[in-house]
Amino acid sequence: MGAQSRRTLINNMKASGTLIALVLLGACDRSGAPSPVSGGDPARGRIAFQQYACTTCHIIPGIVGAKGLAGPPLTDWANRVYIAGVLPNTPDDLVLWLQDPERISPGTAMPDLGVTERDAWDMAAYLFSLK
Ligand code: HEC
Repeated sequence: MGAQSRRTLINNMKASGTLIALVLLGACDRSGAPSPVSGGDPARGRIAFQQYACTTCHIIPGIVGAKGLAGPPLTDWANRVYIAGVLPNTPDDLVLWLQDPERISPGTAMPDLGVTERDAWDMAAYLFSLK
């Protein structure tokens, strides 16, 4: 392919939005990384789920006793699109949700458990390892 036609192709892709979609897809490709959430420690997160008793309300794969049914199961978390149906599922937004669900979604049944920012990052790191 000559430089001219390559440029034309890129321009066409830009015009159709394909290029943007490809860039976004690339950003979602987390294969190979031990944990995609650099700000948290999944091993600490495992302990935090017990300390905050998230386990009483949520099914969390790999966490002992996490069988609660009051909240939705947190299975395949890395593949989820939304958090509680209101926020895009990114690590930053998950950290916000864990620290103050009521502020994100007034009237939600998920309680404010006084989660610290560090603990929220650790739990987010664990949840984003579930896929
Ligand atoms: C008293 C029960 C209860 C406890 C304890 C609890 N949650 Fe929840 N959680 C809920 C409910 C109910 C929802 C659904 C909220 C909504 O959709 O508004 C929820 C939603 C969530 C969601 C979004 C789920 C989804 O499918 O979008 C995550 C993530 C979450 N909780 C994580 C945690 C973590 C981590 C803890 C511990 C720090 C915790 N929860 C403690 C009840 C609880």
